[in-house]
Amino acid sequence: MARILITSALPYINGIKHLGNLVGSQLPADLYARYMRARGHEVMFICATDEHGTPAELAAAKAGQDVADYCAEMHEVQAAIAAGFRLSFDHFGRSSSPQNHRLTQHLAGKLADAGLIEEVSEKQVYSVADGRFLPDRYIEGTCPNCGYERARGDQCEECTKQLDPTDLINPRSAISGSTDLEVRETKHLFLRQSLMRDKLNAWIESKKDWPVLTTSIAKKWLNDGEGLRDRGITRDLDWGIPVKRGDEDWPGMEGKVFYVWFDAPIEYISATAEWAEATGGGDSAWERWWRTDKGANDVRYVQFMGKDNVPFHTLSFPATLMGSGEPWKLVDYIKSFNYLNYDGGQFSTSQGRGVFMDQALSILPADYWRWWLLSHAPENADSEFTWENFQASVNKDLADVLGNFVSRVTKFCRSKFGEEVPAGGENGPVETALIADLSRRIAEYARLMDAMEVRKSATELRAIWAVGNEYLQGAAPWSVYKEDPERAAAIIRLMLNLIRVYAVLSAPFIPDAAATTLAALRTENADWPDDLAAALAALEPGHGFEVPEVLFAKIIDDDREAWHDRFSGQRS
Ligand code: 2FM
Ligand code: ZN
Repeated sequence: MARILITSALPYINGIKHLGNLVGSQLPADLYARYMRARGHEVMFICATDEHGTPAELAAAKAGQDVADYCAEMHEVQAAIAAGFRLSFDHFGRSSSPQNHRLTQHLAGKLADAGLIEEVSEKQVYSVADGRFLPDRYIEGTCPNCGYERARGDQCEECTKQLDPTDLINPRSAISGSTDLEVRETKHLFLRQSLMRDKLNAWIESKKDWPVLTTSIAKKWLNDGEGLRDRGITRDLDWGIPVKRGDEDWPGMEGKVFYVWFDAPIEYISATAEWAEATGGGDSAWERWWRTDKGANDVRYVQFMGKDNVPFHTLSFPATLMGSGEPWKLVDYIKSFNYLNYDGGQFSTSQGRGVFMDQALSILPADYWRWWLLSHAPENADSEFTWENFQASVNKDLADVLGNFVSRVTKFCRSKFGEEVPAGGENGPVETALIADLSRRIAEYARLMDAMEVRKSATELRAIWAVGNEYLQGAAPWSVYKEDPERAAAIIRLMLNLIRVYAVLSAPFIPDAAATTLAALRTENADWPDDLAAALAALEPGHGFEVPEVLFAKIIDDDREAWHDRFSGQRS
């Protein structure tokens, strides 16, 4: 059995993410992690908050909080919401951890030793009153294009024009408001990734099985020159990982930190080290996932992310790991996603448009969202959330097809045979054909899940549910019972077992409903049905059960309309 390492792109610390963010990385990663565990693989599933950079500093300032306190608090908020969505991380780390400080500084030192870091002198705006260099977006002034008085040094929010700080009229520090600004010379570190073009090219060319979305973005960046230009990996900020060369100070780099995109992917590794420390495993516990000289050669490493993250994961991060000259585990497969739109437009944090993760959980349990999002994942193109589609999908797939099946079978059994698996009768040719059909479909479902074909997997699962319904409709135990109770017992026994199999197959998509069902059937530790005929006889006559609570309630039109209005972005 291969060991499977799974990482999801790290959500930025500033603010709660929307459903589009969720379906673009964390949720499909969780689907895959749960599936791989169910198939018996040893899985390490890692995520963390991405805590550095100007957005974190600005969000903390807006909240009137110290940035470290802000990040600590927001990390807890995001961890609680992730738990609410049942994201089954083995560890949800923090890119500000001591482990990530150490490893980031270590890798920068190795890159410097390998001649892959260049020190570049630049002219940059210095605020005398604040005693620091100012990043572009910390400089405010009047937009030369539209006259907006609070334009930022990188862009005018009013007219969206891209700006240079020197374009601004009456520039001032966004921190203190001081106009005592000077242009001074300062040094920054650049990662010379252009020197690694051939190596990266050969590596990407060798990935014949990667999704087109991933390779097309990687190759575009690799080949148009723009993508592989040497990148500044340091910034003039207070909040971040101080620039050091391993343990040593880096002359000329005092007061500077690494660029957030340099340290964020390194956190995938550091978070595994955080996990090892938290679980008392020591270094070997995380190194066996990440160091090919310490056992990670057996690992299959899969990353999940939105398409905007692909260049960093196909070029910059591999350049960091390869360039270090150390035997780090590189990614084997990158599953990337397009965007989810919201009801004819985009999700918008600033306008409150769309459903955010905390809001989603406040109106419906996680499974409803998981099912809709995964069965409509933006894999081959952008996809769109509408309330009509959400309602239809929940009511039909979850309530009618799956929920109703479970409820009919268990209630019928209770009324005629009591709350235990009935004895008597046996399977006939129709049942043999049903089992053969289901076996084929389950094999196809497994093939699609192995291939991370998220939407197609959902479609196949739904078909598997429907097959049980059709059989039940045709076999009609409620009519058969009057003439031939033994035959009705055989049908119901098979269906109770099928419910158990459904719970196992469905758990990666809808873990709560699956757990509720298995608990009601008093069979919590059900395995994947490798041998379907055997799995469909696992619950034997006399095995007790309870009728589970309603698994999925239908969404009524009034609720749908109210939610539509509430999340349209009109609220204050
Ligand atoms: O785009 C984002 O949301 C980033 N915070 C993703 C970082 S992924 C990784 F490299 F850390
Ligand atoms: Zn403007």
